[in-house]
Amino acid sequence: MPNPAPLHMIDLIRKKRDGGALDAGEIGFLVSGAVDGSIPPEQLSAWLMAAWLRGLSQDETRSLTLAMRDSGEKFSPARLGKVAVDKHSTGGVGDKTSFLVAPIAAACGLAVPMISGRALGHTGGTLDKLESIPGYRTALTLSEFETVLLRCGASIVSQTPALVPADRVLYALRDRTGTVESPGLICASILSKKLAAGLDALVLDVKTGSGAFLRKREDAEYLAALMVATAEAAGTRTVALLTDMGQPLGRAAGNWIEVAESVELLCGARPPESEGLRELSLILAGWMIHLGGKAKTPKAGYQRAEAAIADGSALRAFMAMIEVQGGDISVFDDPAGFHKPGATQVLNAWETGFIAEMDTTKLGWAVQRLGAGREKAGEPVDPHAGIHFHARRGARVQKGQPIATLYATDAALLAEPIALLRAAIAIAKTPPCDVPLVSRIFTRESAEDYLRDAVR
Ligand code: URA
Repeated sequence: MPNPAPLHMIDLIRKKRDGGALDAGEIGFLVSGAVDGSIPPEQLSAWLMAAWLRGLSQDETRSLTLAMRDSGEKFSPARLGKVAVDKHSTGGVGDKTSFLVAPIAAACGLAVPMISGRALGHTGGTLDKLESIPGYRTALTLSEFETVLLRCGASIVSQTPALVPADRVLYALRDRTGTVESPGLICASILSKKLAAGLDALVLDVKTGSGAFLRKREDAEYLAALMVATAEAAGTRTVALLTDMGQPLGRAAGNWIEVAESVELLCGARPPESEGLRELSLILAGWMIHLGGKAKTPKAGYQRAEAAIADGSALRAFMAMIEVQGGDISVFDDPAGFHKPGATQVLNAWETGFIAEMDTTKLGWAVQRLGAGREKAGEPVDPHAGIHFHARRGARVQKGQPIATLYATDAALLAEPIALLRAAIAIAKTPPCDVPLVSRIFTRESAEDYLRDAVR
């Protein structure tokens, strides 16, 4: 056999720039060059921009996902002796379903190896929230990860330095070159990390609405279908649910206050402002339990999930995971007493009417600017900063009634978030239309049908 012709990055940039599609060998060359440094950042950036402008075909997306998945070490759940399932959300405000679905699925006999991220832009990060629990360690080695999973059924950790190194390089360049919001690149970035965890099944929560990264419904639908088809082709049973991010999920957005809200629900409480969070968590967990083979239908999975809350087994799984990862669970004896923000301010309704609209991206920036998120990568976050929302979209409010309580690192940080909330929340004379919590579900078949018809 003659040696294949050598590849040159300049040719791959020109090919993509001119609307061509790279084959698996060319994508593999690009990914290994990104990881070993043999392709310089300016050439990778040029290719990323060409990919952003021209789009990636479904075959290119699949090749990129697999090459990235294989770019570093991987986790094998085989020794856990259980079906491995996970849930991934495309990011939102107050989105804390991981703290419910992971222990629920573990309590139902599944393994949940969850590799999570930090706050990104206006959205919160699962790891930052968990680190508000004193002592909780998110940076485990893969062997420590396996030990926690064997003992507790669920473990939520950060990416190790050697897991999917290609995403580390490409994501940092995308962040600096305006090439984040591309369905093919997002799909490869998210799925490469999920598939490197060796999952048997995956439930994707793709957000739509004012707080989502992809605000346009057709973009969110395309991404959802693309991720389902790509993960299924890689051998992981996958569904995607399109869910509403037109208001914060649950009543807390921040770090500690989100963990506290989740534990309240795991204890069986039903505060009305947390009902959407509880419902979505049960739906997502129901699908995880169904895809993991522990329930015949997603509805039966939902019922098993409800039972795991009612009998306390999900709460026990969550507490076990926290303790084994070094967290001090005594803080849950008095969650309100542990919450010590530097400054607090209540925002009252400025007129009487209905909460008609919430620009949830603005609300997310308000949470971040109170100290709960970061301006630059690597900055510390304040575990106690955040917002409690007292009124949901559609609620009738009287002038002067508290609609939110803001918690900041110090009083000087309150003014801008208050202004953001006033700009983000519209109070109107008539109530808004109802928005369904879950508007569409993609399974393998419906995703493939959708992609066949999609013009991209
Ligand atoms: N989250 C990721 O991990 N990657 C993306 O590209 C977008 C969101």
